[in-house]
Parts: sequence; C-alpha cells; structure tokens
Amino acid sequence: MPGSIPPQAPHPPFGQTPLLWRLLLTLALVSLLLDNAWSLGDTAASGAGDGAEAGSAGGTRLPSADLSACPGLRIAVINGVAYHYEVLAGLLHVLRPYAKQTDVFLSPYTRSANADGAWDLIRWSKTNMRLLTRSAVSEIQRSNTHYDLVILVSTDYELDANEDLLRHMPRRMTMAYVHNADFNRTQRLIEVAAGTISGGFAATDGTAGGGGRSKRKRGGSGGDSTSASSSQTKPATPSEVRLITLAPHIARSLEVASGRKADWLLAAYPYRPRTNCMEATEVDLLGHCLRGFSMQGKFSSQRRNYSSIWSQLLEKQAELTDGNVGRLFHMSLLGKGVEERLGLPPELQPHVSLLRRLKYRSYYEAIHHTFALIPAMAGPRYLTDKFSSTILTSLIAGTPMVADARFLEAYSMFNASDVYLQAEGEREVDVMLRVLRSEAATVLGPRRALLSTRRRLNEAAGAYLAELLRGLCETSSGTQEGSS
Ligand SMILES: *[C@@H]1O[C@H](CO)[C@@H](O)[C@H](O)[C@H]1NC(C)=O
Ligand SMILES: *[C@@H]1O[C@H](CO)[C@@H](O)[C@H](O)[C@H]1NC(C)=O
Ligand SMILES: *[C@@H]1O[C@H](CO)[C@@H](O)[C@H](O)[C@H]1NC(C)=O
Repeated sequence: MPGSIPPQAPHPPFGQTPLLWRLLLTLALVSLLLDNAWSLGDTAASGAGDGAEAGSAGGTRLPSADLSACPGLRIAVINGVAYHYEVLAGLLHVLRPYAKQTDVFLSPYTRSANADGAWDLIRWSKTNMRLLTRSAVSEIQRSNTHYDLVILVSTDYELDANEDLLRHMPRRMTMAYVHNADFNRTQRLIEVAAGTISGGFAATDGTAGGGGRSKRKRGGSGGDSTSASSSQTKPATPSEVRLITLAPHIARSLEVASGRKADWLLAAYPYRPRTNCMEATEVDLLGHCLRGFSMQGKFSSQRRNYSSIWSQLLEKQAELTDGNVGRLFHMSLLGKGVEERLGLPPELQPHVSLLRRLKYRSYYEAIHHTFALIPAMAGPRYLTDKFSSTILTSLIAGTPMVADARFLEAYSMFNASDVYLQAEGEREVDVMLRVLRSEAATVLGPRRALLSTRRRLNEAAGAYLAELLRGLCETSSGTQEGSS
C-alpha cells in the first residue's frame, strides 16, 4: 500500500547495535535490495512495467513529433562501448515515441554477466536493439542502410569504431555526444560525424569489413545538407552535425575548442524505486527509508577526492557517530575499482560500506535510500570540461547532491533548491551534519525539487528531439529513398 514501507524492509535499531551487527545488517539490507531489484527486472519482461516512473505518474507527457507524414524516417543510436548505459537509458526514454523507427547498436558485452545488469536498464525499450558483434558489423556495412538521424552516444570514446560504422551509414543528420570538451581530436570527430573524412586519411586498422569494399559509396539522399567540411575530401553527401554535451559548461567549453555551436541535452531515466522514500511516512523516513550518504562511480582518485572526505569524517567522527545523528550516519561507496585506491582509514571502516559492482537497478535503489550523494569532484576540470557521473546518478535515483555555488554555476540545470547547499566556507561534512539534524520536511524539499527538475530536463530533451525530427520529417518527402 502506498505511503508505507513493505514489511520486508528491515528496521534495525542501528544506534544500539555493536559494529559487527551493523555491518551484517547492512549486508542483509543490500541483499534484500538485490532480490527486489531482480523481481523488478522480471516484471519488465512481462510488460507490466520497466522500473521507470510512468509518464502519467510523473504528471507529464513527453513532447513528441508527429511523424505520420514520413513513415520511412529512420533513427540509429550507436553506443559500442560497454559503459554510458545510464546516458543511453535516458536517451531511449525520450526517444520512446519513435521506438518503432529506431535501431540501437550496442556493445556485444551489453547482455553478458559482467555488464552489471546493463541490459536491465534498457531492455524495456521497444527499439530494435542489435549487438555490434563482428558479423553484425559486417552486415551493417554491407546493407548501407540510410538513416535520417544518427545519434552517437560515446563519440569521444570510440571515434575509430564510429568511423568504421558511419562510412556505411548514409545519413542526413548526426548528433554526436561529446563527453569531454578537452578531447584532443575534436576536428577529426566533426569530420567523422559529417562523413567528410577522406578514405586515405582514415587509416584505422579496425573491425571487420574495413577492407576494400565500397569504401566511398554512399546512398546519399540528396539535398539539404550544409557542408561544414574541409575541401580536400570529396564527400558524397555530408551529414549535418550537431555537437551535443551533457551540461552547459561543457557546451561552452566545447564551442571555444571546436569553433562550432554545441548544445547540451541531459535526459535522465526516471528510475522508480522499489520502496519510494517520497511516499514514506514521516516515522519511516529518517533512519529507515533514508540512511547515510553515498559516493558513486569508479574508485579513482582522478575522479573523486576521497581523501578530502575521509579527513572531514575523521575530524567530525565523534559528532557523526553519536546519538541520533549516529543512528542516521553511514557512508556507502558504490562502484568498481581497486579498494586500495580509496585510501580508507581503518578508523572509518565501521562507518563505510563498499558496494561493488551492484547491478544497475540495485545500485540506484541503494543510492535512493541514502540522504544525499557526495560528488567530491577531483579537480576543477569537472567544472569546466568534464561531466561528473554523479549528476546523472542523482537524477536517476532521485537523490540530491551536496553542492556549492561553483558547482551550481557549472551544472546550471540545477538550482539551490535541488541540492543540499554547501555555503561559502562550509565543507561537505558540515552539510551532512545539518541534513542529519533536519526534520523530515526539510530533508524532502530538495528531493521533491530534484524530481521536478528531472521532469523538466526530460521535457526539454524531448522537445529538442521533437523539433529536430519535425524538421527532418518535413524535408524528407521527395528526397526519401526509403531504407535499403
Ligand atoms: C590525445 O590524448 C591522448 C590520451 O588522452 C594521448 O594519448 C594522445 O597523445 C593525445 N594526442 C595529442 C595529439 O595530443
Ligand atoms: C583534495 O582535497 C584536498 C583537501 O581538501 C586538497 O588539498 C587537494 O588538493 C584535493 N585534491 C584534488 C585532486 O582535488
Ligand atoms: C529553482 O527553480 C525552481 C523552478 O524553476 C523555482 O521554483 C525555485 O524558486 C528556484 N529556487 C531557487 C533557490 O532559485
């Protein structure tokens, strides 16, 4: 029943238990979450639900283009790397209205046992999903299918592989996600996306089918493309290119680096928690539905400043572990990587859980049940050129971040209401202590605001795609050759 926690959720009296018991209880909680997540995954297969918040439950409908005038319009989405599944899931969410016209090309590892449940995160999609096995790649290269829109999800991570595929994908428009504005081959990336790279220059040893066969052939569909290409190539029909980033600061920085317009588009898969803390009763919320904080992502000091957090926690350890605050405090680290890289001091071990390589759904479920995510970004590049993976996790799990003014200036899709604000001169631990001492209503404020920001972002992404597809639809009649 809504508004209450299912009976199987444990209510351990953390405050009174010895440390060993706390650890065991945490493990039990995690395994429960794992079980729940799996049953959730199963309902997706039966079509009962996909673990995403339904459009109507969110109180919104995604904007969509009416493509009935161009039934032959085709969209391809390419993500050949075995990560960025959370980016892909958000994109597929806003592409739902066009699923029947969309082919998705995925890493061959997507469904393997060591993909951390990536398949669960996207398998609800009604698109035509294909794994990029060697033979599939050859088949794609042979078929030379024409697309109106091709979306490259990980362009700066698989530029050479993208190039091999795109050479055989005549297309009118290419949206290329660029994750890092400091990528050092941006000009080449633009040429690959446009299809204006010359045969001789593109010396990639590459995947199957590169050799010999119809290298320059394109089933160009005529017309409207605006050539932004260099002149020494002889392109058949250059594709129009849109550079896409995940955040405003990256778009600005990429525009400077590339000398071209760059947009930003952040679509977030609206994960529906097994037990939604927004619906918990006040008495169930603090310490039961919500407990502790989380840091997520690969265990790498290049990405997150763990030592800064450890030293803060050590300094305030007495306050954090005493009384009512102590009952609510914990730190969960979710991700993968070498544990030693975390440099976790032994004194903090009783208060920190490592949740390694959880399946995506359990990952978001576990994070949903923490008060806040601590981004602890390592270095200023995440505020100028790069995207912190914590941002998308926050939106998907519905768990606000601890963030300061500089953060909000870069990631300006959030405002002060969406986060637990770290004021000038405060450190993360000060905010953590404040949150742990807050009443339920205060705790829930940013959570509620974050969900409406997620809706707004998805609507904006949906509107962006709708406008683009409307344009492609209008100009497709007459030039449309149909898929081959
Ligand atoms: C580009 O960056 C990669 C790794 O980030 C590096 O190995 C390579 O040498 C760089 N290339 C240039 C031309 O700077
Ligand atoms: C990590 O934080 C510490 C202390 O706040 C700081 O001295 C150090 O420069 C930071 N390191 C990085 C990589 O941001
Ligand atoms: C944040 O944005 C929301 C929605 O646009 C607005 O209602 C709210 O007042 C803003 N909060 C702050 C602190 O600017």
